[in-house]
Amino acid sequence: MDLTLHVWRQAGPDQTGRMATYIDEATGISPEMSFLEMLDLVNERLIAAGEEPIAFEHDCREGICGSCGLMINGQAHGPERGTATCQLHMRKFADGDEIFVEPWRARAFPVLRDLMVDRQSLDRIVEAGGFISAPTGAAPDANLIPVPKEAAEAAMDAAACIACGACVAACPNSAAQLYTAAKLQHLNLLPQGQPERYQRTQAMVDTMEEFFGSCTLHGECQEACPKEISIDFIAYMNRDYVKAQIKNRKLAGQRS
Ligand code: SF4
Ligand code: FES
Repeated sequence: MDLTLHVWRQAGPDQTGRMATYIDEATGISPEMSFLEMLDLVNERLIAAGEEPIAFEHDCREGICGSCGLMINGQAHGPERGTATCQLHMRKFADGDEIFVEPWRARAFPVLRDLMVDRQSLDRIVEAGGFISAPTGAAPDANLIPVPKEAAEAAMDAAACIACGACVAACPNSAAQLYTAAKLQHLNLLPQGQPERYQRTQAMVDTMEEFFGSCTLHGECQEACPKEISIDFIAYMNRDYVKAQIKNRKLAGQRS
């Protein structure tokens, strides 16, 4: 396949970026290559020509680590549903296609260089409450705390979030509700998550609102999510947040 590639190039966070076009560097692409392997080949050719390679983030290349998010033709992670950029194959495109590749676009994700953005704002949300406080030790007996099957399955669905940020990039409000809801509910649904449930909910939602826009239920997040996480989790989060307003006040009263 011979492609015309338009790629966002930006030398640093404070530099002005621009779209650069690559034609010769994007020839002879195998349909069996992944999207990142295609970028690797383009980079090899750029390096051979003495030019700066395109900076993009990647690690596992198996849809697990969440580092590889790219806007491809205006879609977060490209045209294949439920697929991270690293698992997208070039057979999804046709010979002669023009492809536009950009970084995530959101105020909370400043561009570091080319296609790489700073997603630390997502970490701030997890730091606020995405954990349980319990003394660790030897692994406990797996059946020590019975967990209803439905709760275990729903918690596993939420835990599939890979923190890629596609939900934020796809949202017209740059909201992080789907990410925050997933990180909350994989703990809030389980017995082990109950003691800190309402403090966790309030802390994570309040931190989310410091960095990200508000949800107006466009549903783009669910469509863009490579793990197909349901917006139902946002409803559970909103329910817990309302309850947290009352429960946390009661807890504060008990402490005083
Ligand atoms: S909810 Fe989905 S799109 Fe959002 S960060 Fe998690 S895996 Fe990525
Ligand atoms: S490189 Fe890890 S999810 Fe894509």
